[in-house]
Amino acid sequence: MIQEIRTKLEPHFSNFEKFFSDLIAENASIVQPLQATLWSHGGKQIRPMLVMMSAQLNGAISTRSYRSASLIEMLHTATLVHDDVVDNSSTRRGKPSVNAQFGNATAVLLGDYLYARALRIAIEHKDYDILKVVAGAIEEMSEGELIQSKYIANREMTEEIYFDIISKKTAMLLAACCASGAYSANASQENIDLMHQVGMNIGLVFQIKDDLLDLDLKNKALGKPTGNDIREQKLTLPLIHYLNSQPKEKADEMFDLFLKSDVDNVLLHLQKSDCLRYAELKMQECVKNVKQLLSHYQNKECIQMFDDLLEFIMNRNH
Ligand code: IPE
Ligand code: IPE
Ligand code: MG
Ligand code: MG
Repeated sequence: MIQEIRTKLEPHFSNFEKFFSDLIAENASIVQPLQATLWSHGGKQIRPMLVMMSAQLNGAISTRSYRSASLIEMLHTATLVHDDVVDNSSTRRGKPSVNAQFGNATAVLLGDYLYARALRIAIEHKDYDILKVVAGAIEEMSEGELIQSKYIANREMTEEIYFDIISKKTAMLLAACCASGAYSANASQENIDLMHQVGMNIGLVFQIKDDLLDLDLKNKALGKPTGNDIREQKLTLPLIHYLNSQPKEKADEMFDLFLKSDVDNVLLHLQKSDCLRYAELKMQECVKNVKQLLSHYQNKECIQMFDDLLEFIMNRNH
C-alpha cells in the first residue's frame, strides 16, 4: 500500500531519493557507519512522503520540497541513532543499530553531525521559514525525550503526560513535514498552520501504533526489538489506561509485573482487558481530526493519499 503512494508521487519520489543520496555522497566517509546500518535499508520514508503529499495538496512539489524532505529524513535518522543509545536498543531496520555496531560514542557524534548538517543545508539555501519549523521540532523532540526519561517506571504517569511526550518526541516532526511541504509550495500561512495540525494528528496515530507494535511480541517483521518499552520501563498508552482504569489491586499487580519487566504477563493482562482496544480508539479519534482538517481542500486524489497513508500507519506491522 505504501508502495502505491510512492508510485503516485512519481517522478518526485525518485527525484527526492536522488537528491538525498547526492547529499549523503558529499560526506560519504564520515557517514559510512550510517550507510552500513540504517541507510542500506532506507526505512519506510513516511516523512519525505508527507512533505511531498503536503506540497502537492497545497500547489506543487518543487526542489524546495526535495530539500525539505531530505533534511527532515536526515534529522529523523539523527533521532533514531540517538534514540537507540537512550533505549539501549540493539537492532534497527533489521540490522544491528549504530550503537550496537560502532559504540555509543560514534552514535552520539553521528547524530549530532546529522542535526548540524541538516540545519546548515537549510541556512545555505535561505530556507528560513522551513528552518524555523524544523528547528522548533528538534527542540521539542529533545524535550519530549527528556520528559519521557523523567517518567521512566514512574507511577505518576498519566494519559495527559503521555500525549505531551508523544506530541513532542514524534508528532512535531511529522507536523514539520506537513508544514514545510506547504511552505515549499508557497501556501498561505493559514494553510501552513492547518497542515501543521494535520501532521500533528498523523504523528500521534503513528506513535500510538509504534507503542502497540512494541507489545506485539510475535511480530518478526518489525526490524527492531519488541517488548523494549517494558524492558526500558516506559509506560505507554495501553498500560497507562490499565493502571488508571482497573481496580487498585489489579493495577498494583500490573505495576509490579511491569517493574519486574515480566513482558509476557504484562501483555497477557493487557490482552484480557480492553486497553489495547482503547489505544486503537484513540488512534481513530486522531484520524477523524485529520479528515476534518483536510475537508478544507478540494483535491480528492491528494486527500485519498492521506487516507491511504493513515490506513497503512494503523495496519502496519513494521
Ligand atoms: C521510528 O520511525 C521512530 C518513531 C518515531 C516511532 P519510523 O518507523 O518511521 O522509522 P523508519 O524510518 O521507517 O525506520
Ligand atoms: C520514538 O520512540 C522516539 C523517536 C523520536 C525516535 P521509540 O523509542 O518508541 O521509537 P522506536 O520504537 O525505538 O523506533
Ligand atoms: Mg526507541
Ligand atoms: Mg517504539
